[in-house]
Amino acid sequence: MIGTDVSKASKLLTQGELVAIPTETVYGLAANALDATAVAKIYTAKQRPSFNPLIVHVSDTDQVLNYVSDFSLLAQQLAKAFWPGSLTILMPKNDKVPDLVTAGLPNVALRVPNHPLTLQLLKSLAFPLAAPSANVSNTVSPTTAHRVEQNLGNVVHYILDGGKCDVGVESTIVSVIDNQITLLREGGISKEQIEEELGIEISTKAEEKIMAPGQLKKHYATRKPLFLVDDIQDALLRHQAEKVSVLLFESIPTTENYIPYLLSSDYDLSEIANNLFEMMHFADEDDGEFILAARCKNEGIGRAINDRLTRASVR
Ligand code: TXA
Ligand code: MG
Repeated sequence: MIGTDVSKASKLLTQGELVAIPTETVYGLAANALDATAVAKIYTAKQRPSFNPLIVHVSDTDQVLNYVSDFSLLAQQLAKAFWPGSLTILMPKNDKVPDLVTAGLPNVALRVPNHPLTLQLLKSLAFPLAAPSANVSNTVSPTTAHRVEQNLGNVVHYILDGGKCDVGVESTIVSVIDNQITLLREGGISKEQIEEELGIEISTKAEEKIMAPGQLKKHYATRKPLFLVDDIQDALLRHQAEKVSVLLFESIPTTENYIPYLLSSDYDLSEIANNLFEMMHFADEDDGEFILAARCKNEGIGRAINDRLTRASVR
């Protein structure tokens, strides 16, 4: 069931049930992060392997010390600059956080999401919320309540409807361990923004390594094949199919052999990110034989867009 009743969501979560919640990035599938039985339901509902840990959402920065053993100055600076917002910070966890949440890893991923309904919800609860994106593992993440219902409607008791997500791609993940900051996943806050805030260059970790076991290569997959090309106009001239679905980042002359999805009319990266997953869903549902998309500028949030498209294109 879809609705905007925060107290209903709060009650269900307190009873150990799952509720889908809006955030500014994508919708999350939430449960009481301190209740391992409730958290286990997330893994089952998403068909998520239990080695892939969950992000813990808190209402504000003051909550962090309840769940970490070290809230370093560096992490505090990032929290101050970017929360509430699309940055997830990995820090050493304390005993309050169940091992199931972190898949047995010593660090917990925390963030304060920037969505009024979910902040209101978090403030009404006596516990934080563990929440991965609200989709079955390896499918495209939802940016509307309707997509959550389509994908997980049979397993989630309530979907809190907060409208379309503003950012549209998941949060950026950094680890801040032993005063070392490492970028683990590109997302809503760009690497450039973090570097500017800290005044240092930050390193990127190849995602398959131990820190984020969930950063699997094939992810965000559409049911149809998605092909990532450098030159979309050229690809449109060459393809042999009767019809293909095309994700476009700017207006181009139309011909009859494709179904266009205009993510932005003028290559606005924030707008492209905002529309990406919803347009991938639409393209997946039309009668094109496959989906074509171009790589976009590898800067700012463009890197997060390319990351999602690349993972979606792995077959
Ligand atoms: O924007 C977002 O981050 C959304 C919203 C709902 O907050 N959440 C999200 O969660 O994208 P999920 O589970 O789809 O992606 C979180 C990623 C996973 O790849 C997971 O492996 C990694 O974060 N992660 C979570 N906790 C971790 C931990 N303790 N250590 C290493 N990686 C972790
Ligand atoms: Mg996900």
